[in-house]
Amino acid sequence: MQTQVSLAPLPRIETEMLVVLVADAQTAKGTEAKPLPALLTSDGTVNAAAAAVLASGELKAGSCEALLLHSPAGLRAKRLLLMGLGKREKGTVHEVRKAAGAAVRFAKPRGIRELTFALPENESAGPLHAAARAAVEGAFIADFDPDTYRTDRTDRSIERLSLAVAGAGDRPADERPDLAEAVREGVILGESQSFVRELVNEPGNKLTPTVLGQRAAEMAQSVGLGCEVLSTAKIEELKMGSFLSVARGSAEPPALIVLRYEPEGVSNGPILGLVGKGITFDSGGISLKPSENMEKMKYDMAGGAAMLGAMRAIALLKPKVRAIAVICATENMPGGRAQKPGDVQTAMSGKTIEIINTDAEGRLVLADGLAYARRLGATHLIDAATLTSACVVALGMVNAGVFANDEESYAKFASALQVSGEKFWRLPLDEEYAEKIKSDISDIKNTGGRWGGASTAAEFLRVFVEDTPWIHLDIAGVAWAEEAKPYMAKGPSGVAVRSIVEWAKNW
Ligand code: BES
Ligand code: MN
Ligand code: ZN
Repeated sequence: MQTQVSLAPLPRIETEMLVVLVADAQTAKGTEAKPLPALLTSDGTVNAAAAAVLASGELKAGSCEALLLHSPAGLRAKRLLLMGLGKREKGTVHEVRKAAGAAVRFAKPRGIRELTFALPENESAGPLHAAARAAVEGAFIADFDPDTYRTDRTDRSIERLSLAVAGAGDRPADERPDLAEAVREGVILGESQSFVRELVNEPGNKLTPTVLGQRAAEMAQSVGLGCEVLSTAKIEELKMGSFLSVARGSAEPPALIVLRYEPEGVSNGPILGLVGKGITFDSGGISLKPSENMEKMKYDMAGGAAMLGAMRAIALLKPKVRAIAVICATENMPGGRAQKPGDVQTAMSGKTIEIINTDAEGRLVLADGLAYARRLGATHLIDAATLTSACVVALGMVNAGVFANDEESYAKFASALQVSGEKFWRLPLDEEYAEKIKSDISDIKNTGGRWGGASTAAEFLRVFVEDTPWIHLDIAGVAWAEEAKPYMAKGPSGVAVRSIVEWAKNW
């Protein structure tokens, strides 16, 4: 998708479809009559073109509610799409992101390949550059469709998106370098998120750990990141007994993917360690999962993919902070050499782990991944994993879980969420959860019983993090969208990329 900024007055813009936002009006307390929804542009011609339909009351301007007018009077645009933004008081940049996405998903099935999105003139919802970036992100997110392997697939992707800034006067776009930069950032984040979603969408037979390693290496090459992919012999040399215990049951070799971002002139300060769970298929192992929904477990590498996408964006945005990524990729399969419940494994750190349930494999690969990131010099850790169904039970498919052992790092993550618009809800770490993973035979065991499963899993990881500041993201419930949204297809969501990148920029 090509992107550009246009500062021409809205009526003069030639486009297949001009998108203008409409906010639901507020009803003042004590008043009877509800005012009509209002366009978020002061342009008289556009307002005149939309006046009749707005007066009809047909458009309530709820979030992502759309209404299309052909040949709008006085405009050069072929179509005018009125896109609802929901309640005006809720008109945040996150609504702008969704609205731009909904416009793209409105256009795609209708064969419209080019559109112009008018940014809201009123900056009460946030500065214009933030809206511009969010709109571009929203457009890229919406442009993604997961039907990769349909032989009759028709490409309906959007070719060109223009952002119109009405009221800016008739000035050349290069007078607003801040907007050009916002668009560039939006493109990087949007494309990085699509990169992640393509990986997560791939079936387990196509995206083995080896192939994930190759895709990571290609990406690293293209954006100038350092990359190393270690296979079984090297992982054995590192004595990653916890990671390898999961890989044992599979005929596919594991891959330990290491990416490095070293900005020029930065030789001190923090080194961020991004660690991802890369289970390319989770059958449960000997503690085999039931067949219902097992096909979904191809997305059990979504945390690892999110870290690859975040590193891609970091490489292109070039924040002044060093970062490394460690992704532990393997299948979890019940082969003849698979580990068994009751087995005891020794992690790279030397800690011993009693295996209670081979389906609690994510924490086993992360144990060595986190320890390795520390060994490589990471001073601040963040991990992402489709780790527990307990987190899905707690938060549904709305919020992902976030855990932190350090308030400074958490504060940076919380402020990143204000920019990314992603929903994460903090869940507790606590000594009393740690009690639940004590083992009679070894240092710890890999499950903590039925209750508080997201927190006992996090406490397991904490054993390997030791006292390094750390954020843990449990994205099991939100990495795969079961339902389509007006602004996003169902399937892989690409969650956490935007928040992780923003967190990294905050250091
Ligand atoms: N990959 C699963 C968690 C998961 C569940 C991801 C649903 C996405 C959707 C993980 O490896 C797993 O199986 N966890 C078990 C742990 C249990 C055995 C302690 C779980 O949460 O049920
Ligand atoms: Mn599992
Ligand atoms: Zn898993």
